Amino acid sequence: MAEKISEWLDERISWRSVWEAIFLRKVPKVNWLFTLGSATLLTALLQITTGILLTIYYVPTPDHAYDSVQYITTQVPGGWLIRGIHHWGASAMVVLTVLHMLRVIIFGAYKYPREVTWITGVFLLFIVIGFGFTGYLLPWDQKAYWATTVGTRIAGVVPILGNVILRIMRGGNDLSAITLSRFFGVHVWVLPVALILLIGIHLYLVIRIGISAVPKRGE
Ligand code: HEM
Repeated sequence: MAEKISEWLDERISWRSVWEAIFLRKVPKVNWLFTLGSATLLTALLQITTGILLTIYYVPTPDHAYDSVQYITTQVPGGWLIRGIHHWGASAMVVLTVLHMLRVIIFGAYKYPREVTWITGVFLLFIVIGFGFTGYLLPWDQKAYWATTVGTRIAGVVPILGNVILRIMRGGNDLSAITLSRFFGVHVWVLPVALILLIGIHLYLVIRIGISAVPKRGE
């Protein structure tokens, strides 16, 4: 029965050729360092899943943000685990992305014909850092408030445009309810959409071009 359905579907949407291109493609003999990209991808999926679950109880207003995070951690069944995974996953994501990038640099995998894959990777790195910066404010505790005060002030010292950038980030001169909802919006909508789009292009290129082999002596 399952065979018949898959046959019926394949005749109409050729899903087997897509499956073969993704999972049955030939790869050169590589080593464990080549799994760092997939580890980053897995962490990203974990972050998206736990992040969606957190939004069920999280409230992005100065009156309720802190309490809602405490409620998630102490009252919601399994909430401590979901929050813990999202919290440590954020650090894992930064570490893995940087390690994956170092692997690409050390093995020279950024060279022709993979320059565009590299460039999409650079934007992915910015997005990962953006997630960390915007997510840090969301618990709305003292650490979050002052870290964002300092972070936005650093952006404010950019020559000429500094003050404009600072006001756009804060939504005014000081941190307020506007800053919190702005950071929340960027954290749960703008960055995830950009991340999913860019990962899609990144992986399309990895599959289309094929993974690089370990360079030989003199290459
Ligand atoms: C969210 C972040 C990222 C994800 C999920 C991701 C995912 C992946 C995956 C699954 C692969 C194939 C397996 C591997 O080579 O490990 C790959 C390859 C690659 N990535 Fe990333 N990546 C990310 C960030 C980056 C960054 C920051 C750079 C560089 C600035 C980069 C540059 C590359 C390049 C050039 C390749 C091709 C490597 C080759 O053919 O040997 N990626 N990426």
